[in-house]
Amino acid sequence: MIMTDWENRYRQNDTGWDKGEAAPPLVDYLRLHSIQGHVLVPGCGRGHDALALAHQGAQVTGLDVAPSALTEAQKKNPHAHISYEQGDFFQLPFPWHNRFDWLFEHTCFCAIDPSQRTAYALSATLALRPGGHIFAIFYLNPSHASGPPFPSSRKELDHLFQPSFDLREEWVPTRTFPGRENRELVRLYQKR
Ligand SMILES: C[S@@+](CC[C@H](N)C(=O)[O-])C[C@H]1O[C@@H](n2cnc3c(N)ncnc32)[C@H](O)[C@@H]1O
Repeated sequence: MIMTDWENRYRQNDTGWDKGEAAPPLVDYLRLHSIQGHVLVPGCGRGHDALALAHQGAQVTGLDVAPSALTEAQKKNPHAHISYEQGDFFQLPFPWHNRFDWLFEHTCFCAIDPSQRTAYALSATLALRPGGHIFAIFYLNPSHASGPPFPSSRKELDHLFQPSFDLREEWVPTRTFPGRENRELVRLYQKR
């Protein structure tokens, strides 16, 4: 299993994934739709996506294992409706079970070791209330010989999420960060 030292990556500013703004597929979605209620952002990093979600009215919990990411998130992207919390997505505190209306996924699922993906799907299931949604930007096509980021496939996503979620929509985003064109897949799931 590849265990990345995320805290060290933030301390060294070795954070090439961070483009300094919210993910374009999220921004584009929010132009036409809204994501309301309690939203969990696992692996929120410096909080750019959390801020975009809070701006349009959601109550956001940004979760990350790396304390330095959260210190920077609080400094760069504070908002009255965001709570930045340090913790492990695979060890959700009991009061968070069935608590969230939405989970927003962007570059956390592809960052963890692929052997942890079943645990990711389980944590997502635990965190969301019945009827709650996942808005996920998945990373499909490999651009590196080794990860992170680790790509996935539609088949793997079906296997992981179908037991507890219905797939409501999927699309290949027209706007992405440069270099991610045709490598991302957005999926909107609903928990049964
Ligand atoms: C590739 S970075 C992406 C950060 C952010 N989503 C972004 O796009 O800028 C992956 C993030 O997931 C966090 N992370 C990794 N494993 C985690 C876990 N088990 N629980 C919570 N956060 C985790 C890392 O600390 C890191 O901030």
